[in-house]
Amino acid sequence: MKLYDAAKPLLFALPAETAHGLGHAVLDIVQDTPIETRLADRYTVRDPRLEVEAFGQSFPNPVGVAAGFDKNAEIPNALAALGFGHVEVGGVTAEAQAGNPKPRMFRLREDEALINRMGFNNHGADAIGPRLERVDCPVPLGVNIGKSKSAPLDSAEDDYLYTFERVRAGGDYFVVNVSSPNTPGLRELQNREALTRILGTLQDAGASPLLVKLSPNLTEAAIEDALSVVDDLDLDGVIATNTSTDRPDSLVSKNRDEEGGLSGKPIENEATAMIRFVAERTDVPVVGVGGISDAEGAYEKIRAGASVVQLYTGLVYEGPAIARDINRGLLHLLERDGFDSIEDAVGADL
Ligand SMILES: Cc1cc2nc3c(=O)[nH]c(=O)nc-3n(C[C@H](O)[C@H](O)[C@H](O)COP(=O)(O)O)c2cc1C
Repeated sequence: MKLYDAAKPLLFALPAETAHGLGHAVLDIVQDTPIETRLADRYTVRDPRLEVEAFGQSFPNPVGVAAGFDKNAEIPNALAALGFGHVEVGGVTAEAQAGNPKPRMFRLREDEALINRMGFNNHGADAIGPRLERVDCPVPLGVNIGKSKSAPLDSAEDDYLYTFERVRAGGDYFVVNVSSPNTPGLRELQNREALTRILGTLQDAGASPLLVKLSPNLTEAAIEDALSVVDDLDLDGVIATNTSTDRPDSLVSKNRDEEGGLSGKPIENEATAMIRFVAERTDVPVVGVGGISDAEGAYEKIRAGASVVQLYTGLVYEGPAIARDINRGLLHLLERDGFDSIEDAVGADL
């Protein structure tokens, strides 16, 4: 039996955020110790067929940790030791924020899903920026930037710029997050005019590579609008998708009506469809995220056009071996389908 199979009932007996905090604390303890090296030996799949070059970054494998898991950039190296090929920390905001009142993170066990309304709880750019500068991460380290709750929407670019200036030295790529459902008004910033202002301001300040993370709840017309900004500004990539405010009829868990963003299995197909939609309409790399829990799911997103993928909820349900299991599985799937590498499979279904 895998260790996580034994630990999971205990973790799942705790409130979701408490369990997350416990997992986080364990990773914090092992980080930068000999145990981290042992973990890396155990969980890292080293194979040149898994390597991906995208937006100027060399990814040792295509499976990354999505934003929100390490909001304060405290455990990127421990996460890399679990075999992930990149780690996206944050969302970081200009102001330190407590986030919404607890409880604000809910398991939908029967649905293999989570609903969260964290509300960008984080230590703030002044604390996280210097912390990032002390990190020497063995895999690409992305910084996800959110908007402070207090910052007005019509001058949001100033707030994003403040954060970027503080995290710029410590990140390998930067993500403008305008798609979390838990900061009032945030997703309105996905319109053409606001996106141009925010992304253009960061670009002028030297943010590169710069990506934008989109919501799965955008209409097709709104996605096309956002992509026109991506093209106009010659942005470096698109992340699809964030959590969803939809509640599919298939949800059975008692927590289905909690307010917030839905993640995990129930958004898997919707996220893949959006990746395909985006990849068909732009030449920039797409980072695919939403409901990945196994190699087949990761492979489907890659074939739909994702250059690399990320996950959060899958780590909660499958445990710390998930990156290794997916990477091993991907190698089998590549062999089965006659691809020489992941890069050959990107967009194969388009
Ligand atoms: C508790 C929690 C917190 C999150 N926080 C952020 C965040 O701060 N910024 C962001 O862009 N996405 C955030 N996300 C969204 C994830 O990065 C990801 O886009 C989403 O969960 C879908 O992937 P998954 O189904 O693999 O979890 C968060 C997700 C969860 C579950």
